[in-house]
Amino acid sequence: MEVVIAPSAREAAIIAAGAFERLLAGADRPVIGLATGRSPLPTYRELIERCRDGRVSFARTRVFLLDEYVGLDPEHSQSCRSVIRRELLDQVDAPSGALVVPECAPAGLATAPEAYERRIADAGGIDLQLLGIGRNGHIGFNEPPSSLGSRTRLTTLAAATREDNAGSFDDDPEMVPRQGITQGVGTILEARHLLLIATGDTKSASVAGAVEGPVTAMVPASALQLHPRATVIIDEAAGRELQHADYYREACRNRFVWQHI
Ligand code: GLP
Repeated sequence: MEVVIAPSAREAAIIAAGAFERLLAGADRPVIGLATGRSPLPTYRELIERCRDGRVSFARTRVFLLDEYVGLDPEHSQSCRSVIRRELLDQVDAPSGALVVPECAPAGLATAPEAYERRIADAGGIDLQLLGIGRNGHIGFNEPPSSLGSRTRLTTLAAATREDNAGSFDDDPEMVPRQGITQGVGTILEARHLLLIATGDTKSASVAGAVEGPVTAMVPASALQLHPRATVIIDEAAGRELQHADYYREACRNRFVWQHI
């Protein structure tokens, strides 16, 4: 696991966008996984700018959603697919069919997780998966405790997550759907590169648990410690509780120029 402490959320976004730029420039048919939530938004804005400048193209890219609400009209403005379209895909050169989403209609729910896993496998797996982290250490909708081997499945949102996401639902946790469909922790671990972004001091405890705590189902993001290529990009505030911040800074300073994130 590589930990990059950026001086600001904007710098964190620039570093994350750089990883996307390198993948999109180098792969024939890049496959990316995208997360919703507030943390990735500056990265999406940076990617939109780079697309406008001609530095980045999504023309050959397949995009998989990390997770989606269940029980919410897919066309609702706060569904994960609507957010990803609005905040990124509609503003770049992604073809209309680029986004792959899990089936959320009641009739297809029982078979949706397996079908979604198959679609990821058929695409050749995910090259770069962007992740946020919940205050309780969740990734996607894998709430604590989530098996580190879990696959795409239906999950129930923790009360804390519904509170945290209430801002998108008229500040009313009761309006936040109670269930989601999410790539499992084991599914996420199969992506070839994981990029977790966390900014702000509300994330400092979950970041410290994920990076320096034990690998445990109680902190699903700690599973990133098991991944051969996981990058955690944080700002100073999110890194406030890390015991080894100086070491991470030193490691970044010592990186060779070819050791890209
Ligand atoms: C949500 C999403 C996650 C997201 C997380 C953090 O519930 N399901 O995929 O990463 O919470 O959100 P934020 O970045 O807004 O803190």
